[in-house]
Amino acid sequence: MCGIVGAVAQRNITPILLEGLKRLEYRGYDSCGVALHVDGKLQRSRSTSRVTELQAQIDQTGLAGFTGIAHTRWATHGVPSSANAHPHFSRERIALVHNGIIENHEELRTELSTAGYIFESQTDTEVIAHLIDHLYHGDLFEAVQQAVKRLSGAFAIAVFCRDEPHRVVGARLGSPLIVGVGKGENFIASDAMALAGTTDQIIYLEEGDVVDLQLQKCWIVDNQGKSVQREIRTVHAHSGAAELGPYRHYMQKEIFEQPRAIADTLENVTNIMPELFGDKAYGIFKEIDSVLILACGTSYYAGLTAKYWIESIAKIPVNVEIASEYRYRDSVPNPKSLVVTISQSGETADTLAALKHARNQGMLHTLTVCNVATSAMVRECELAYITHAGVEVGVASTKAFTTQLAALFLLALSLAQIKGRLNDEQEAGHIKAMRHLPVAISAVLALEPQIIAWAEQFAAKENALFLGRGLHYPIAMEGALKLKEISYIHAEAYPAGELKHGPLALVTKEMPVVTVAPNDTLIEKLKSNMQEVRARGGELYVFADADSHITASEGIHVIRLPEHYGLLSPILHTIPLQLLAYHTALARGTDVDKPRNLAKSVTVE
Ligand code: F6R
Repeated sequence: MCGIVGAVAQRNITPILLEGLKRLEYRGYDSCGVALHVDGKLQRSRSTSRVTELQAQIDQTGLAGFTGIAHTRWATHGVPSSANAHPHFSRERIALVHNGIIENHEELRTELSTAGYIFESQTDTEVIAHLIDHLYHGDLFEAVQQAVKRLSGAFAIAVFCRDEPHRVVGARLGSPLIVGVGKGENFIASDAMALAGTTDQIIYLEEGDVVDLQLQKCWIVDNQGKSVQREIRTVHAHSGAAELGPYRHYMQKEIFEQPRAIADTLENVTNIMPELFGDKAYGIFKEIDSVLILACGTSYYAGLTAKYWIESIAKIPVNVEIASEYRYRDSVPNPKSLVVTISQSGETADTLAALKHARNQGMLHTLTVCNVATSAMVRECELAYITHAGVEVGVASTKAFTTQLAALFLLALSLAQIKGRLNDEQEAGHIKAMRHLPVAISAVLALEPQIIAWAEQFAAKENALFLGRGLHYPIAMEGALKLKEISYIHAEAYPAGELKHGPLALVTKEMPVVTVAPNDTLIEKLKSNMQEVRARGGELYVFADADSHITASEGIHVIRLPEHYGLLSPILHTIPLQLLAYHTALARGTDVDKPRNLAKSVTVE
């Protein structure tokens, strides 16, 4: 999704801006641009291609300067084109980049057009540049503070002005923005990762903050216009451009990193204790009587799996809500509920807004399961469990999902313990199983050659059904999402018992039906559902396990996972579905790590 980098320095900042954009590339974008203050003028270069193209363009023109801003754009208002790419200019005086969505842009556009401003793009962003210009009377910081009061929606912006060569002003509301503090130079970015290698001294701006960056100065005011000090933290941000090593794609690398990622996520777990989730967890877990999980996409499926675990092990009722729906729904708040957000990035706009909504409704006990320790989600929740998946570059979430599952299983056990529903023997058994997970996952990864053979058949299909039951229904949903997002094959998941209530009408010999079939309590029911598919000519592709007793026959293809893994089986059964999606996409020649229309970190509504 969109990314921002900006700098005010006493050296040529073009390489810093371009490097910053490269580090943000993995988030997904469709155009990019840089603007600099050059000899008393604004100059820019924009491209609808990759950042390397932009760099080549800049190398040719020799664009260089001490003050400037840069952007990767993921289109929301207006097609990806050079004219819509940021930075946007107003009257050759103001240059601006923006992440987020301005909801009252039409009203502002009308007002500013009447005031004589000519619009050159279809974006909502351009209104901010013109608005700031309109309010500019020699002090950019002042003009930005006035302008943001007129904006509704979500934004993070970075702006500079032709008439103030050593100043960049930033502001945020609803979209992340950080400041990088240097020596005699200062930086701004949407993510600390953009500044890795430039500075590790980071300030996380808060909602409504406006920042004035000059060479020796970093001045922040809050949403009331009051001067505030924000803590400078030392952040060792990783580069988004981690080495690929022997892998063809980041997604493949990240699938194969899962044994390590799970081991790291569970590293400090020697026994079950609420304190794993934070100092205050004991008191909070004791007090709560239910759980509300809020998340989007893959993280939502992790939440659905957690519902099964928490209800069956801890016997606490759980609701799981899609964040973008929950935030706009009239729901009945329960102040004794534990609100759990799940997010890889910790910056997903819908999940953050849902969290805020829950809090505004009086639900104050909040916990996040998140992969980014410095993210807004972690900063805003009372309790946190950091998954140690490491930087996930591929747009399709893989290791983030399985590490979320590991953390959520721990949550179920911790809640069970507090509620007196976990004895020592059960605890020891669960810990042993969790410790063995990395080895068990490695054994599943070794099934890759068999899965490649299936993927070659899938590559020719346009539709697929995924079936699971109980604990494995969310895993079937995750498998379908993975296949559709990277191979562009239409895939849907159903709880297998639902087939006869409608989707069975779709089943023909052209329809591959992927079935998640470990030997759990519903296996016999699932086998009956499989017969319903076979009777209609559907081809079954079954991921069984050591104990499932399903044998291959005509129209029934079986890959057997080496172990039966009980309650933790969803983690193991996710792996072959990821590999199936990956190899199918590879066979179809899609851009696996950057699938069309998608972004890694969804920071707009
Ligand atoms: C799918 C995928 C997305 C994310 C969703 C939430 O592979 O990655 O569905 O899971 O956008 O993102 P986070 O977890 O960062 O809140």
